[in-house]
Amino acid sequence: MSIQDYHEFLDQILIPEHVLQNRIRELGAAISRDYAGKDLMLICILRGGVMFLTDLMRAITVPHSIDFMAVSSYGVGARSSHGEVRITLDLRSSVEGRNLLLVEDIIDSGHTIAAVIDLLKTRRPASLRVCTLLDKAERREADVPIDYRGFVIPNKFVFGYGLDMDEHYRNLPFVGVARPDKILPPD
Ligand code: IMP
Ligand code: MG
Repeated sequence: MSIQDYHEFLDQILIPEHVLQNRIRELGAAISRDYAGKDLMLICILRGGVMFLTDLMRAITVPHSIDFMAVSSYGVGARSSHGEVRITLDLRSSVEGRNLLLVEDIIDSGHTIAAVIDLLKTRRPASLRVCTLLDKAERREADVPIDYRGFVIPNKFVFGYGLDMDEHYRNLPFVGVARPDKILPPD
């Protein structure tokens, strides 16, 4: 598979690169205001959130640290999480007493982030907020408080800008809607 092949999977570009980048600068400015003088730790959920994290970090002007978690909810080809979430990589740092900001690519049913929030709360952080680039609000099943939100998007499968289509095309600089006939059926 090469980068050119994405055209055959792309229905339309939903959020072009410059729109993404402008919004991320706004989010970074808001986060910088809210966390002025506080010790901030960004927690990125691998792998979809990586591209958003690295751009968001550059838009945040207050000192902060980063750490990573990996969670598995979707297998290749599966298109919905069923509330069954496994932590496959845990944080390296202790979060007790820290101000945590979870950085997610997309919140869909909300089960993934809800499970991560439940786990992190048991470790007694000073505060815990959520920043998601994309919010598929229509699909929400779990009640998740979202403190910073890039874009509300329609209930369509999207890829690019960190989000994969069966592990490919995370490198695209825009968010695109997948052609419905190209999406694999769930497991
Ligand atoms: P949730 O638990 O249903 O909220 O699922 C969240 C996770 O599902 C995200 O972190 C993504 O990895 C994945 N996901 C949900 N919708 C999409 C999509 O449209 N494209 C790619 N990945 C998605
Ligand atoms: Mg993800």
